[in-house]
Amino acid sequence: MRSSPDRTGRTLLTLGTALWVASMALATLTAHGKPEKQPRRGWWQAGDRLAALARAESARTAMAATESASSTPLVDLLEGARLFDQETFGGNGRTCLTCHSRETGTVSPADARARFRHDPDDPLFVHDGSDDDDGDGFGDGQHVTRMLESATFLMRIRLHPDVEVKGHPEIREVTVRRGTPTTLNTPALDPVLMLDGRQPTLQEQALGAITQHAQATRAITSRELDLIAGFQRTPRFYSSRELLLFAFTGHNPPVLPAGRTPSEKRGRIFFEDLPPDFNVNPPNFKPGACAACHSGPLLNQTNQFLPVAVPPGTRFQSVLVSEFNAAGNPVLDFVFRNQLRDLDPATNLDGVPDGTVEVSSPDPGRALVSGRADDFGSFDQLNAFKNSPLRGIRHTAPYFHDNSARTLEDVAEHYRNFFLIVSDPDGPGPLEPVLVLTDQDKKDMVAYMKLLD
Ligand code: HEC
Ligand code: HEC
Repeated sequence: MRSSPDRTGRTLLTLGTALWVASMALATLTAHGKPEKQPRRGWWQAGDRLAALARAESARTAMAATESASSTPLVDLLEGARLFDQETFGGNGRTCLTCHSRETGTVSPADARARFRHDPDDPLFVHDGSDDDDGDGFGDGQHVTRMLESATFLMRIRLHPDVEVKGHPEIREVTVRRGTPTTLNTPALDPVLMLDGRQPTLQEQALGAITQHAQATRAITSRELDLIAGFQRTPRFYSSRELLLFAFTGHNPPVLPAGRTPSEKRGRIFFEDLPPDFNVNPPNFKPGACAACHSGPLLNQTNQFLPVAVPPGTRFQSVLVSEFNAAGNPVLDFVFRNQLRDLDPATNLDGVPDGTVEVSSPDPGRALVSGRADDFGSFDQLNAFKNSPLRGIRHTAPYFHDNSARTLEDVAEHYRNFFLIVSDPDGPGPLEPVLVLTDQDKKDMVAYMKLLD
């Protein structure tokens, strides 16, 4: 059955709400069943003795990092740097550095505008960096409005065999507009690569970038790919000394900074691994509200308190960025076949994967790669993207996969709207959402995010 885009969106949101609330109820029971307080662990709690131990450990890890970096022959490091910064592979003039700057690991609209003023022929603006003027999904190589305004690229994504553009089974690739995630921290510390997780290794990722973004015309050797991968793990590619040491030693994962101002200290509560506070009436759902999906050393994985049917450590979720489509990107109708459930959750539960899910979306994210849109209750496929790391976040605006949030303030406003929907027990009914972020909350979480290195 065909669902209108509106109805599709609403059904998903209502389902989302129902499940979020149901699981919150479950979380309540669990919380009451276990009276002991959630232990809060962190170096900041350590007394002087532990602090001294930590300093000794830190000195040891610094030495280990130096040894490890120096175990890569210098010639390989230099060649890796040359391949990343300068080599064009006989293509359109781009190198990795064209889109992944030394300072931030990405490219912002402000960067794009400065570069355009300096040189309108900068290779940033060619090919997938130019406007798709006739709507065929490819850049026209001349107009650059999109790059100057939002710094997004036209990414061609191969469709999973179970996914079709409605009415066009012959189309096997679609174009989506995506920003550039930073190359700081991720290459060494994040096994999930690309916003939709579609590349299994740094080598395959680099090969894709060289053939697609840079339109290489010469053969690329596997040794070159290894050198590029290795280079992205060297000390240039971290947002802080702590992350560098952690990457090289595996010890002392960075903890949450304590916060200095009252606002930062209040903001921290959203990022602590905490369950909602059920000792107050009404219960307070703000503690840990962000940590539920931004936990672990890079603050990019779910913890045990996310009230959604996914295990802790999950790396994909939808936070309604494609659903809201604040970027105003072109929307396509997709048909997903061989699904375990169709849009009506009461039907097609016979375990036979013969259901059909129809969705309209500017970018279904993970679902295009996995072929699954039947993720009611887990929200980790349809319109789902990699949980963004938050370390060094103040340097890498704009935000979200489509660069739709210009500032961290915009991000906070997005989450206010997100929680109004997912924490509303009866959807558009009379009951109020249980998590309503105030202006002060938004300021506090932004102040805190600016501390994250
Ligand atoms: C034209 C701009 C451009 C160029 C050139 C480019 N990239 Fe990227 N890079 C992107 C975009 C856009 C993405 C995210 C695309 C997606 O997820 O669909 C990305 C993603 C990545 C990621 C994954 C980051 C993450 O968070 O998962 C890595 C690593 C990376 N690029 C490294 C490289 C390397 C190495 C090169 C050179 C061989 C390179 N890139 C060239 C734009 C570029
Ligand atoms: C349900 C899981 C979930 C929750 C809860 C959540 N996030 Fe996110 N966050 C994500 C995902 C997934 C993305 C990437 C979304 C996209 O690009 O479509 C993201 C992206 C972000 C980004 C953008 C990062 C970038 O580099 O573009 C910021 C900043 C952020 N979240 C902060 C927060 C804050 C603050 C909160 C709490 C108010 C929060 N998140 C709650 C999953 C979550």
